[in-house]
Amino acid sequence: MMNSKPIGIFDSGIGGTSIWRVLTTLLPYENTIYLADSKNAPYGEKSSEKIIEFSIKNTELLIERGSKIIIVACNTATTNAIEVLRTKFDVPFIGIEPAIKPAAINTKTNNIGILATKGTLSSALFSKTSNKFAAHINVIEQEGKGIVELIENGKMDSNEMTLLLNKYLNPMVKQQIDYLVLGCTHYPYLIPQIKEIVGRDVKIIDSGLAVAKQTKSILEKKNLNITTQIIGKHQFYSNKNVSVLKNILADISLEYSVQNLDF
Ligand code: DGL
Repeated sequence: MMNSKPIGIFDSGIGGTSIWRVLTTLLPYENTIYLADSKNAPYGEKSSEKIIEFSIKNTELLIERGSKIIIVACNTATTNAIEVLRTKFDVPFIGIEPAIKPAAINTKTNNIGILATKGTLSSALFSKTSNKFAAHINVIEQEGKGIVELIENGKMDSNEMTLLLNKYLNPMVKQQIDYLVLGCTHYPYLIPQIKEIVGRDVKIIDSGLAVAKQTKSILEKKNLNITTQIIGKHQFYSNKNVSVLKNILADISLEYSVQNLDF
């Protein structure tokens, strides 16, 4: 039965697990298969051609393993590759983009900050979205250079991370942002640290819930949603450091496996 096939998810590394967490809360009976392409992280510093190549490779593997729908749980891969993926493969795709629209609509100071990778900020899709929704306000774009590497190396709570976050976020605070958009799926794990820097009055938004809701809606529309009410099973694969992936999932109480795989 197609309905019991897994939802395929990929990211340049472990960051997409932040999306997976929201997804499994909204769709607890769905099975999932997650690929962390940590060997090739960070995507954000690679050329668009390379990002497309990695995205195709990940998609092929997820389809080979029976995925009924694919979530590109990476802003950088979505903004650079989703159009190519949609042309090349028949399976439905859900992408993730920085949530500029809600920030631009709700800002009172007319200053919003966006922290994302170089690959996302320089993409045509990001420019299009930004021009469409935020042309009338001041958007402070900041590359999060180095952040993904630290998370992938298990240094989420390190002095290096505090230094980087201060360097990137303090100028935004000075310019009185009232919204901070997290445009990379690795960043939601840093929210407690980010709050310490930007203060309680700055609202932090990411696209996790929007992606989960969109996935639910597409599955229902295409009659692909699982029909049994048994808590889902989850397979995680990493092509680099399995222990970092295991650590980030350590608080999860669902049934899941983590394995090393060469892809
Ligand atoms: N999680 C990816 C994203 O959402 C990180 C990209 C990278 O590897 O640089 O953009």
